[in-house]
Amino acid sequence: MTFLDLEDAVAPLEKESARPKVVDAIKNLPWDDRVLCVRVNAWDTEWTYGDVIEVVGNAGERLDEIMLPKVQSAAEVVALDLLLTQVEKNSGLPVGHIGIEAQIETARGLINVDEICAASPRLETIIFGPADFAASIEMPVLTGGVEIPEYPGDHFNYVFSRILMAGRANGLQVIDGPFLKVRELDALRQYSLRTRMLGYDGKWALTPDQAVVLNEVYSPTQEQFDRAFDILDAYQQATEADRKGAVMFGDEMIDEASRKMAIKFVSRGERAGLTRSPG
Ligand code: GLV
Ligand code: MG
Repeated sequence: MTFLDLEDAVAPLEKESARPKVVDAIKNLPWDDRVLCVRVNAWDTEWTYGDVIEVVGNAGERLDEIMLPKVQSAAEVVALDLLLTQVEKNSGLPVGHIGIEAQIETARGLINVDEICAASPRLETIIFGPADFAASIEMPVLTGGVEIPEYPGDHFNYVFSRILMAGRANGLQVIDGPFLKVRELDALRQYSLRTRMLGYDGKWALTPDQAVVLNEVYSPTQEQFDRAFDILDAYQQATEADRKGAVMFGDEMIDEASRKMAIKFVSRGERAGLTRSPG
């Protein structure tokens, strides 16, 4: 997925002139089958409706999603959903064509994350925004989304987990936000393991180099992928041929829950282009 930004990467004086550039980029760059998203400005600005009308109205056919930043309440998602419906109708697009990605980056957004994640059938993804979030809760940091060595533990563990539960409970993709030290790829790799190990689907990449690291971190290894298939085979043999619900697989017991865990590795691995090793 790629997103084009009309929000914080665009200076206030350029907000309106950025819209036709984004429309042009959506229509004319070679995106192939990449999922394409535009981040509009938040509802507490004067630009949100204009962003949506101009971008979806002129390039909605190729566009897949709108990203809504700094979402504070379910009502903000509903408002975007209603606006999208009108723009889709006026542009001859099927209603529901555009999906929504919502960013949680304020204290209020986090408190309301359950309702936000359930607010619209258009919602596809919930995203954590560490830089704005740190500002919102007055965390004494000057860099977004990096480790804080002075803190004995993971300063965002609660936030990561809270967003993950709300997203998963509503069947959404859950994505971690940016790591702003763009030249520190080893530090990125280390830090991104936190959300990867909790169960996040991915993390923002700000540069092509970051994308290489993150694609690796959020995809299963070949070994995990192969082991998942082995578990599925053993479980199938146990349940179907031997009529047993729980059996030994090497040194561990496997059962239906093991199958569920393994299935996730298989689907993630297949999405990442892995194939099962021969033999
Ligand atoms: C992203 O938008 C962030 O604020 O971290
Ligand atoms: Mg932000």
